[in-house]
Amino acid sequence: MLAELEQLKARAFSELDVIDNLKHLEEWRLRYLGRKGSLTLVLRGLSGLPLEERRVVGAAANEIKAALEAGLKQKQDSLKEQSLAVALQKSRIDVTLPGYPVNVGRFHPTTQTIREVCAVFASMGFQVIEGPEVEWDYYNFEALNIPRDHPARDMWATLWVEAPEGENPMLLRTHTSPMQIRLMEKTRPPVRAVIPGKTYRYEATDATHESMFYQIEGLAVDRGITMGDLKGTLFEFARRVFGEERRARFRCDYFPFVEPGVEMAIDCWVCRGKGCRLCGNTGWIEILGAGMVHPQVLRRVDYDPDVYSGFAFGVGVERIPMLRYGIEDIRLFYGNDLRFLKQF
Ligand code: PHE
Repeated sequence: MLAELEQLKARAFSELDVIDNLKHLEEWRLRYLGRKGSLTLVLRGLSGLPLEERRVVGAAANEIKAALEAGLKQKQDSLKEQSLAVALQKSRIDVTLPGYPVNVGRFHPTTQTIREVCAVFASMGFQVIEGPEVEWDYYNFEALNIPRDHPARDMWATLWVEAPEGENPMLLRTHTSPMQIRLMEKTRPPVRAVIPGKTYRYEATDATHESMFYQIEGLAVDRGITMGDLKGTLFEFARRVFGEERRARFRCDYFPFVEPGVEMAIDCWVCRGKGCRLCGNTGWIEILGAGMVHPQVLRRVDYDPDVYSGFAFGVGVERIPMLRYGIEDIRLFYGNDLRFLKQF
């Protein structure tokens, strides 16, 4: 009987040894330790034995039972550990792999330029305001000293929203200057403001012309403002935006709403005045129109020209990055081509 038990034990362990999955392990458990398992049957058969024998065999059988249970537990643990290791191996991730690139947006070069220029003027005490793109004839022309049928209107090829023959027809503003009037109508001096925004011209597009482009208007009105203030302010702007060593040139120009009127140019930073492609061989690059606010314009908004004076300027926005980065076609700005836009 004891020998039989020893055999059973040896068989059970040699079978257990080669089991490599939980299903086979369960079958093994039922085979030996289950209700109809070999060992269970032995233990049940004990009752038929004489007392002395029963004690000896019973003790041995219980020992074997304990050994088998311990073996079972051990196998269970090692199989679980194994399957966990396999699962981990399968679902392994490499946290050092670079992530998917995130698309980061950025500001349009025009927006960047507007912000930069406005920040320069804000630091000199100018406020930043905006105004309507659809404008009345009155603000775009009439109040700016450009009467109906005056040939100066030809300076601005106009997109009319209403027939221009009407009383005060609507149009798409041809410059940001109408905001000079709107602002002065609403406030009293001192006035210091820059006004960025879209402007429209009825023109064929080419490398240097768009039917929509941006301007930044500037206006300063107070007691005792002189041409010296105009030059100092605009010179400072040029140096802050185009480089500390820039020089500025002012020449006469004509705009009906200023007197005197000027155009400002800065020395070409590519050839430093010698003449090259960027400056069209002149050594100078024109960047804006400006002038002292015309007394007629001041009167129009009820500012006394004997008390107040001021200067105004208008600068084209796209031209600044075009000059800076050598962009040769203004149409690139609004062609919605990411290959262009991503470069800024
Ligand atoms: N509004 C003018 C233009 O678009 C520029 C300008 C503004 C000139 C202010 C003088 C003063 O051409």
